[in-house]
Amino acid sequence: MRALTIIKSEHQNLAAVLYSMEHLVGEIDNGKHPDFAVFHGLFTYIDRFLDEYHHPKENRYLFPAVLARAPDTADLIQELGRQHSEGETLFVEMLKALSAYEFSGASEFPRFRDSLLKYTAFERHHALLEENELLPRAREVLEASDWESIDAAFGENQDPMFGDQWDSEFSVLFARLVNSLPTPLGLGDAWK
Ligand SMILES: [Fe+2]
Ligand SMILES: [Fe+2]
Repeated sequence: MRALTIIKSEHQNLAAVLYSMEHLVGEIDNGKHPDFAVFHGLFTYIDRFLDEYHHPKENRYLFPAVLARAPDTADLIQELGRQHSEGETLFVEMLKALSAYEFSGASEFPRFRDSLLKYTAFERHHALLEENELLPRAREVLEASDWESIDAAFGENQDPMFGDQWDSEFSVLFARLVNSLPTPLGLGDAWK
């Protein structure tokens, strides 16, 4: 069941990144000038962490195991899987809006802000749905043999697809992110 703790802590990391993104568009709304590299860093982190690491682990290990033990979760699991795809679509929209904003300037900011806020609300809601509905069912219905493979995938890098290369890559990305985020979010200079 170690995977449950790991999933929750991965959701907490995600929540911190989503909060940072919302805080930064608030800064721009207050007249500050953005450092676009910070958004690129945040988005790269999210892309690697959420769409290439966290969600595939859920899709591949957690969802099928819960579905096999509790067929009544079929609708919930289908919806969560659909949300993984929709999140990727919203992410691409946000990225395009960032590109337009960076290239064309302030007139494109509202579209960027709106797509970013739509994305953060969506991913926050998704993680809550998992925590409130899926994880309690997983705790209830999964057996020790199920947890073995799920814990291995989420835990100590025993899965070749999610090996320790990922862990070191995330540490490097995360450290760069913290260094670039403006204070008080990180160690970078405040936006002016
Ligand atoms: Fe998910
Ligand atoms: Fe999740």
